[in-house]
Amino acid sequence: MALQIAKIISDDEIVSVNQYLKSGGKAAIQSERPLVFVAPTYSWRMPRVVEQWILETSFRGSRDAYFILTCGGGCGNAAAYARKLCVKKNWRFCGLAPVIMPENYLALFPTPEEAECRSIADHAQPSIAALAERIRAGECFDKPAVTFGERLQSGPVNPLFYTFFVRDTGFTVSDRCISCGKCASRCPLNNIDLKAGKPTWNGSCTHCMACIGGCPAEAIEYKSKSRKRHRHYIMNDALCWGSGGQVK
Ligand SMILES: Cc1cc2nc3c(=O)[nH]c(=O)nc-3n(C[C@H](O)[C@H](O)[C@H](O)COP(=O)(O)O)c2cc1C
Ligand code: SF4
Ligand code: SF4
Repeated sequence: MALQIAKIISDDEIVSVNQYLKSGGKAAIQSERPLVFVAPTYSWRMPRVVEQWILETSFRGSRDAYFILTCGGGCGNAAAYARKLCVKKNWRFCGLAPVIMPENYLALFPTPEEAECRSIADHAQPSIAALAERIRAGECFDKPAVTFGERLQSGPVNPLFYTFFVRDTGFTVSDRCISCGKCASRCPLNNIDLKAGKPTWNGSCTHCMACIGGCPAEAIEYKSKSRKRHRHYIMNDALCWGSGGQVK
């Protein structure tokens, strides 16, 4: 999605937060164009690791910040927290917009099958284009109405979610594993080592689902919950299936 937006607004200054997280180096970013953060929604807010990365990163140039969160259903009151982040960074908050994309949280929820994933991604295209046009025009995103329930979700529920659900002890690997190492190389937090060719999880996980969703052999499970659930992994704006094939 970030690639798509960058193309529409003709901005080739695009960086991957995942790559920065992976390399662990401190980033210093200079841009005279608006800052546009594209991230998934985790527990009705921007992922904690992304928020932390933004806080620790030095940004110079433009002070306008837009946030686009992909989500399976909704991002609650995430905008309030993005606004607070902007205050800390001395930025102008230009809005946060959710875009519905295929649900990927197969450790907890049912995920859509291949055709539905494609259809959801297709349906998102006009919203993505409209948001990009707003950015190009220098207009802020609309402020959505937020319910009391959404305030609770993004507020007290969010830290409870991290405390009680975000653990990597539920991951297991089966003998379908072909020792390709993709789970380890894709983990943004370098939380996976291969031992005797098989992944082991080391306790520093953000539940992004890149390891389980992107395994080409579908060899990873999360407790019994992920069994028979469809897996996908989005790489360079393309939906990829367990077979490793790119279909979109
Ligand atoms: C840990 C975790 C928490 C999630 N929390 C939410 C949520 O609060 N609301 C929602 O609509 N979707 C939620 N999702 C679904 C993702 O935000 C959604 O599938 C998103 O498009 C994933 O983006 P990605 O495929 O680029 O990682 C969650 C997914 C994960 C893995
Ligand atoms: S991605 Fe899957 S097949 Fe490859 S090493 Fe990891 S578990 Fe094994
Ligand atoms: S879910 Fe897998 S890829 Fe994502 S942070 Fe945890 S171990 Fe790494």
